[in-house]
Amino acid sequence: MKLSENMLSERLQAIAELIPYKETMADIGTDHGFLPVYLIETGRSPQAIAADISEDSLEKAVQLAREKNMEDALSTRLGNGLEIIDASEVDNIVIAGMGGILISEILGKEPEKTKSFKRLILQPRSKIGFLRKWLRDNDFTIVSETLVKEVDKICEIIVAIPYEDVHDEFPFSLVNSPNKYTLEYLETHLEKYEKILDKINREKSSTGRAIHIKDKITHLSNLINMYKEERGKHGS
Ligand SMILES: C[S@@+](CC[C@H](N)C(=O)[O-])C[C@H]1O[C@@H](n2cnc3c(N)ncnc32)[C@H](O)[C@@H]1O
Repeated sequence: MKLSENMLSERLQAIAELIPYKETMADIGTDHGFLPVYLIETGRSPQAIAADISEDSLEKAVQLAREKNMEDALSTRLGNGLEIIDASEVDNIVIAGMGGILISEILGKEPEKTKSFKRLILQPRSKIGFLRKWLRDNDFTIVSETLVKEVDKICEIIVAIPYEDVHDEFPFSLVNSPNKYTLEYLETHLEKYEKILDKINREKSSTGRAIHIKDKITHLSNLINMYKEERGKHGS
């Protein structure tokens, strides 16, 4: 039977839906390998890595990949945390079902490598506040949070990206010292992000990314309004 027919748990399904279509992923602490197998089987991810520190756990993922003839698309790797993944090797890193402290230790081992991935999808079983603080202190931005129920427990899924503040990208100083290109510059970027958001919404591809793009759109719209108000005041 296909896992897609068998269905993942609500928790793993919610994690799967946070992986944008056609993006690659590594599942750190995969255990049975259900998540990466589902992503490949449904065509959501072209390539995935199932990794685990325990030989016994990984063996379950190896068996599943073999049963499904997925050995080309699914790489199974034995090792600790991100040690067996190269920098930028995948788009998304999933670490689910572990304590928040262990997750932060895995992320903190090689900070530059951790920052090379587009997105971290984290489902801590405990110490969620500790993990949130760790992400903030280590220059990650939490772009979305989702609650899911597994059996009788409600769990939290956090999506974090390396810090990229819209205020660094489009600072207020652009509007405070404008010239003849300012409005065109801001409107061009606004139009670009509106198109990206429209595409994400049509493809229902990434909740996390949609939130990030909406932030940019709100900020750019505010800057454009500020620019227009200033021009209005000075009658030009
Ligand atoms: C509770 S299971 C979670 C399985 C799956 N990720 C899920 O959410 O359903 C935790 C898994 O993480 C693995 N693990 C624990 N520490 C790890 C580490 N430092 N690196 C990789 N895997 C680890 C364990 O061997 C185990 O298979």
